[in-house]
Order: sequence, then structure tokens, then C-alpha cells
Amino acid sequence: MAALPASVDATLGLLAKGHYVAERSLATSTFLSLKLKRPLFLEGEAGVGKTEIAKVLADTLGRKLVRLQCYEGLDVASAVYEWNYSRQMIEIRLAEAGGTVDRDQLGADIFDKRFLIERPILKALEPDIAGAPVLLIDELDRADEPFEAYLLEVLSDYQVTIPELGTIKAAEPPIVVITSNRTREIHDALKRRCFYHWVNYPDAKRELEILRLKVPGADARLSREVVLFVQNLRKMDLFKLPGIAETIDWTQALTQLDAIALDPDTINDTVGALLKYQDDIAKVRGSQAAQLLEQVKSEIAASSPA
Ligand SMILES: Nc1ncnc2c1ncn2[C@@H]1O[C@H](COP(=O)(O)OP(=O)(O)OP(=O)(O)O)[C@@H](O)[C@H]1O
Ligand SMILES: [Mg+2]
Repeated sequence: MAALPASVDATLGLLAKGHYVAERSLATSTFLSLKLKRPLFLEGEAGVGKTEIAKVLADTLGRKLVRLQCYEGLDVASAVYEWNYSRQMIEIRLAEAGGTVDRDQLGADIFDKRFLIERPILKALEPDIAGAPVLLIDELDRADEPFEAYLLEVLSDYQVTIPELGTIKAAEPPIVVITSNRTREIHDALKRRCFYHWVNYPDAKRELEILRLKVPGADARLSREVVLFVQNLRKMDLFKLPGIAETIDWTQALTQLDAIALDPDTINDTVGALLKYQDDIAKVRGSQAAQLLEQVKSEIAASSPA
């Protein structure tokens, strides 16, 4: 288990160790959330590195990652705990077959921890030899509001009450990272308990740095062209702009094709790695792509005079 970072710079370093290139403001929110033991709440467009930060924190701090993927209809039985009914039934049958059944005793026996199925939130409250786990509550905007209200309670006291068993409280609060794609607003009451950070698309310098780490085999000139192309593409009015994940995918695809520079045909053939909606692809493919590429080449020429 690694020690928690002692400063914003140390947090930047920790994330970099996990190949995560963070903005200083994100490292500051992360540092404060670790230091003050409050959840980190990340909102932002798709593919900008919200989920990744929880994975990297778990990895670099040597903690267990407990992931709760949210969806519509997510309930306590899937998120917190559930009694194992079939095992409880077998226990009852065995007791009956054994003869003398003391109803009170049996009632207490079948609500023992042995018959409890722990779901992510309960698991995250359990002590772990590696230290408190990282609890990733991913895409909270997909869950329903009643679940969000329940979560508010859990995150206030880091405890869960199971009527038949009592209250289970974490000895050490987990490191909580909550993400949202903002398909709906999350209540202020929950946000107030967290450190909030809006994860932006990276600037060209940071995106190039990410490419160097994530696709080390890519040609340097190609990476530079890809980043500038994507940065210009993000200024267009598209239904779904490409995230960092798409930039990485595209560079990997181009590298597989042994490309060392962008050209209009290659862009047209591989644009599916970058854009995932037919309307967006139709808009970009052809003359628009050629025009963007011209712009990229002139930006490169302007920044590095021969
Ligand atoms: N700052 C970064 N440094 C390094 N890699 C990054 C960074 N941001 C994103 N990535 C890469 O981009 C990929 C996508 O990131 P991630 O899955 O965290 O996005 P997300 O914001 O959770 O997207 P979604 O909203 O679609 O779930 C990751 O696999 C990671 O490799
Ligand atoms: Mg995600």
C-alpha cells in the first residue's frame, strides 16, 4: 500500500505513474478529496478520463477497486446487499430434517453474515489489508433518484443498516470516485458532500503527452497531426465530439496501418475510429476532412519553421 500524496504536485506525480496526464485543477480536487476523505465527483463528456482516474488511483495506491456501474432500476439488492434465499432455504430444510427445530434460534441463524451476498457498496465498507478500497460509482446519472437519495445516506456516514443484522460501519472510509455523463443533473445535496470537477477535453499539449504514453509505438509526426486534427474537429458542430479514448483508438488504428502521416484517403477510411454517428461521419468525410488536414499542416508549418 502506497501512502496518500502529500501535495498537489505529489498527486500529479502519482497519477503520472499510472499513465494518467491530469490538469493541475483535477490533481488539486483529487488531492483534496484524498486528504479530506470526501468523494471526488467527476462530470464531463464521454471518453475524457473520468472512469480511468479511479482505476489509476486504485492501481497506484495499491488499493482494491470496487466498481458499481449504475443503470436505470439499480436497487439496494444489486448495489448494497441481498440475502441468499436459496441457501437460507437449504439451511431451514436441513434443520427440519435434523428434527428439533427451535424457531427463534433458526430465525437468528439464517440471518447470519454467512447468508449475506455483499454487493459493491457493502464490499467497499469492509476493511481490507491493503487499506480502504477505491469505490467507483460509475455513471450515477443513469441510476434513479431514489437510489441517489440512498447513496447520500451512505456517503454521509459510510455505514449501511441491514434490519436483520444491524449497522455496518466502515472502520476507514473508502476512497470514493463518482462519475456522471450529465444526462440528468445530480442533486445539490449529493454534490455538496463531494469535491466537484468538470473534466474538460485536453489541450493539444496534454493530448499529445497522453498519446506518447498510451500509444508509444506511434510515429511522432503522425501523433502531432492526429492531435491537431482532433482538436480542430472538436470545434465543429457535431452530434458527438471525439474524446481522448477516440484519439487513442484512432492513433492505434493508423499505426496498425503503418501510417506515418495523415492523408485524405486514410482519414476517410479510418474516421470510424473517431466518430460513431453516421451524420457526423458524413459531415466530416471528404472535403471537410481535406480542409481540416490543410489547416493542421499549416499549423504545424507555422509552429516549426524549417
Ligand atoms: N488524462 C488522461 N491520461 C491518460 N489517459 C487518459 C486520460 N484521459 C483518458 N484517457 C484514456 O482514455 C480512455 C477513456 O477514458 P475513460 O474511460 O476514463 O473515459 P470516461 O470519461 O469515463 O468516458 P465515458 O463517459 O464514456 O465512460 C481510458 O482508457 C484512458 O486510457
Ligand atoms: Mg466512464
